[in-house]
Amino acid sequence: MRIGVPKETAPGEKRVATVPDVVEKLVKLGFSVAVQSGAGDAANFADDTYRAAGAEVLPTAAELWATSDIVFKVRAPSPEEVALMREGGTLISFIWPAQNPELMQQLAQRTATVLAIDSLPRQLSRAQKMDALTSMAGISGYRAVIEAANAFGRFFNGQITAAGKIPPAKVFIAGAGVAGLAAIGTAANLGAIVRANDTRAEVADQVVSLGGEFVKVDYEEEGSGGGGYAKVMSEGFQQAQREMYAQQAKDADIIITTALIPGKPAPKLITAEMVRSMKPGSVIVDMAGEQGGNCELTVPGEAVVRHGVTIIGYTDLVSRLAKQSSTLYSTNLLRVTEELCKTKDGVIDVNMDDDAIRGLTVIKEGNVTWPPPPLKLPAPPPAKPAAAAAPAAKKGHGHGAGEPMSAKSLAIVFGVGAVLFLLVGLYAPASFLSHFTVFVLACFVGYMVVWNVTPSLHTPLMSVTNAISSIIAIGALVQVAPPLTDAGADRPNVLILGLAVVALALTAVNMFGGFAVTRRMLAMFRK
Ligand code: NAI
Repeated sequence: MRIGVPKETAPGEKRVATVPDVVEKLVKLGFSVAVQSGAGDAANFADDTYRAAGAEVLPTAAELWATSDIVFKVRAPSPEEVALMREGGTLISFIWPAQNPELMQQLAQRTATVLAIDSLPRQLSRAQKMDALTSMAGISGYRAVIEAANAFGRFFNGQITAAGKIPPAKVFIAGAGVAGLAAIGTAANLGAIVRANDTRAEVADQVVSLGGEFVKVDYEEEGSGGGGYAKVMSEGFQQAQREMYAQQAKDADIIITTALIPGKPAPKLITAEMVRSMKPGSVIVDMAGEQGGNCELTVPGEAVVRHGVTIIGYTDLVSRLAKQSSTLYSTNLLRVTEELCKTKDGVIDVNMDDDAIRGLTVIKEGNVTWPPPPLKLPAPPPAKPAAAAAPAAKKGHGHGAGEPMSAKSLAIVFGVGAVLFLLVGLYAPASFLSHFTVFVLACFVGYMVVWNVTPSLHTPLMSVTNAISSIIAIGALVQVAPPLTDAGADRPNVLILGLAVVALALTAVNMFGGFAVTRRMLAMFRK
């Protein structure tokens, strides 16, 4: 099948849906790739680099849409673009189906199959590699700090110079979701004193691990609305939060606001009065401009100066880092394509039994399939017992739907297990028994290790397990150097020795690589 990448048409959009490196990988998956001439120009990917990577460069959008079975895009297509689309074609792009019912209708009329990258079920850990919303929000959080630094007239880090002592800048971040956390990490790395607040108390640890300080609102209310998203808070909480924000505004040099409740207008957290109370030369970056802004004085899409404070309301922060965001976005799309084309033969299969693909698919062959049915997650952490006294149930316990096994069923499971063990012990040969014991212990240790690790650390856990699996090196070592007691025994033949040396080299890569990757991943969670 042919994948087509048109030039983005939305004003100011500099990203491109596929970069040359990813073209090569798509070709390896068996697809042919066509790119509209100039599609990557704004992100610094010239036509020639696409050609070198194996893509065909087509002169016009019309030609590209008409000849592509699958189209990769960044922004939801315009009505003109939908009109160019091939009947029965596939589109993978941001769509925002809830906000764009007309677009959904137009696409359905073209019997299209549409995968909306914004509809990915982000709760699935398997979906992380496809999560373009997260990669884009991370970039925008970073860029927000860079924009703030650009507008701010001082250093971020404190310095002692011959000319005097310079205090570090104080940065306050409202909302510690994906963008907020990226902003915290970036500002802390630049040396600023970073404080942050969020209605979801569970993010406090993440704020601290990125080098920030979590500032609590002096009012007890749970801010999590489920699925990692926030909920609208009570009037009492909002009042207490306003008081705390007023204090922070007086103290901070820079405020970056990222507060968002999905499907709701942005909460107004920074009032005109707070802006007036800030020091002249201070900066506010309001990332929620598109949803109406977290600051009363934000002008979406612009940078304005009010009461001596620069208020940046840019809505194109991701596009301002077009090369980086295109690279990450196209990698997310590549991962989606890999899921769609497991056979690596250049043909996609939109498998609606796969939870991730089901969530992504908002139109299948002209039938609107959005919204998807609720996901059946194996272990929803905050389950029914919430009403009872269970204040400190922090770690997601792995048992079914949150209901602990009754004493009776536990006794039955143990009873059956004990009988099975007894039978194995009585009748199995001794050599089997020793292997079996190791196997059972390994299952137990593996279960305990995996279940007691926070889901976000599962990827580093996998890489360290991979490194540990290099224990198989012992087999090769035994071949290379026979045990001392066998001094008189024959040396292994050259072929076995050679194979053992190769095995050692490969396992060494696995071992050192595994530990190095784990170290780098864990570093992302540390300051
Ligand atoms: P997110 O949903 O991961 O994070 C939003 C955070 O705000 C959540 O942690 C939530 O608990 C918190 N929050 C909600 N109400 C709050 C309140 N009243 N007080 C304090 N915290 C509150 O969202 P994400 O992906 O981090 O995006 C953040 C914002 O940045 C969104 O408005 C998004 O549209 C915007 N954005 C802007 C871009 C730009 O170019 N300007 C680019 C990408 C994202």
